[in-house]
Amino acid sequence: MRIDKFISNTGFGSRKEVKSLLKAGAVKINDITVKSPQTHVDIEKDVVTLYGEEIIYREYIYLMMNKPPGVISATEDKYDETVIDLLDEEFQHFEPFPVGRLDKDTEGLLLLTNDGQLAHKLLSPKKKVPKKYFVRINTLMTNEMVTEVQRGIELDDGYLTMPGDLEILESGNEGFITIMEGKFHQIKRMFIALGSKVTYLKRVEMAGMKLDENLELGEYRELTEDELEYIRTT
Ligand code: URA
Repeated sequence: MRIDKFISNTGFGSRKEVKSLLKAGAVKINDITVKSPQTHVDIEKDVVTLYGEEIIYREYIYLMMNKPPGVISATEDKYDETVIDLLDEEFQHFEPFPVGRLDKDTEGLLLLTNDGQLAHKLLSPKKKVPKKYFVRINTLMTNEMVTEVQRGIELDDGYLTMPGDLEILESGNEGFITIMEGKFHQIKRMFIALGSKVTYLKRVEMAGMKLDENLELGEYRELTEDELEYIRTT
């Protein structure tokens, strides 16, 4: 790979900016200063430094966000702020996209990556990847609701949901619901079919990976090696 591509791919500026860095003698490959943007770099073996700091090459990024309400789970939108708008330039540069959608008013765990293969795997209904939500509704939850969720619920368009799980919390109108698919407004529509209305929804887990409770709404961080390994092998 060309050195200018290597450096700009890792988020250190546009190809033009990288050219200036090279010209300024800021870049070394295996301790030798390189100035030509065409210089070849072996991403497996060569050690590249920028002002003495090693640059680790990477193609993919994996971010966990605590999505705030009012923001759209998309890469662009004509009217509203998107989850991508919340990212720093150093991450936007990798052109990540959200893995699945949370509604505009839904909060919580959202994975963002530019790894299409992993995203595809996590979103495939065949893989039955569990997604767990904290949910509050406008009525008390009942044992019948638990049974219905376990059995599968017929939505307004006739679709029968896959068996899920509902755990009622002490408050009575709050619980944790786990579903294996992600139809449009699925949880809200499930509760409508049960005669109630969702008043608050927050995703707390996906593919067994938990939302980091230290992340404030709108904050994000890169996945740890363990988390990445975990969702890769799920
Ligand atoms: N189900 C919904 O209704 N909304 C979401 O954002 C996610 C699941």
